[in-house]
Amino acid sequence: MDHAIELAYIGLEIPDPSTLDGLFGEVVGLVAGAPTAGGGSTWRDDDKAHRIIVEAGDANDARYLGFEVAAGSFDAAVERVRAAGFEITAATAEEAAERRVARLVRTTSPWGVEVELVHGLEQGEPFSSPGMPGGFLTEGVGFGHTVFATTNFDEADRFVTEALGMGQSDWLDMEIAEGIDLHVRFYHCNERHHSIALARPPFDLPQVLHHIMVETREVDDVGAAFDRARASGLTIANNLGRHDNDAMFSFYVVSPAGFQVEVGHGARLITPDWDDNRAYDRMSRWGHEPLPS
Ligand SMILES: [Fe+2]
Repeated sequence: MDHAIELAYIGLEIPDPSTLDGLFGEVVGLVAGAPTAGGGSTWRDDDKAHRIIVEAGDANDARYLGFEVAAGSFDAAVERVRAAGFEITAATAEEAAERRVARLVRTTSPWGVEVELVHGLEQGEPFSSPGMPGGFLTEGVGFGHTVFATTNFDEADRFVTEALGMGQSDWLDMEIAEGIDLHVRFYHCNERHHSIALARPPFDLPQVLHHIMVETREVDDVGAAFDRARASGLTIANNLGRHDNDAMFSFYVVSPAGFQVEVGHGARLITPDWDDNRAYDRMSRWGHEPLPS
């Protein structure tokens, strides 16, 4: 495991970024950041300048994922990506300024999303959200976690472990319907149980991004967000429940763009002597069943 990296931001490309305003702002309690040069929207879950960047475009999916790398580890992190056989492209100063970072290089993940190694993501205003009074847990663990589904699974696994240097936390094998198996691997790069998980679907899905998770500091903030999600009329993909592997208490709401947002609290942390990398055969200890809309 490399404790020197954490999830910095995710970039989405959605036909109309404003369709996500209600979910991100009012339901989840994120705070709007400055618009992008191209007129897109940005969202924050802590003091950083931006954590979710939404640009207008046809992809209707995640386009890039940024990892903050500590200054002293940056060159080694870049070299590790190259050594694993993935090409690194240097970004221009203008591109780095757009991302509001001091350093930026890119590579392309096997699931098609650009992965950016960055340093020096700018601070924004102090975080304060009426919908999320306790704030989000991000210090030293990044803005949350992201889960992608890819049929290029083995190469994606190699990318995450060899090129990004992440450790596998555990994995899930379960039959979700007769004859259809779900396989998910969970990876850590700091104390957060997983910063990325990869799911192996039986066929390519319309979006590689399955969900984005943000973790609250206070358990009641999950309940209040759940009430707002119910009131919003958005589909609740998974009711309140507790995952088996990371022990996260959470729910999942479907965004107007199709991918989901998980709002959770209380996941267990990865320890330096982590020895619980094992199979799970159920997603949750209780709950998380779909709710009729
Ligand atoms: Fe999750």
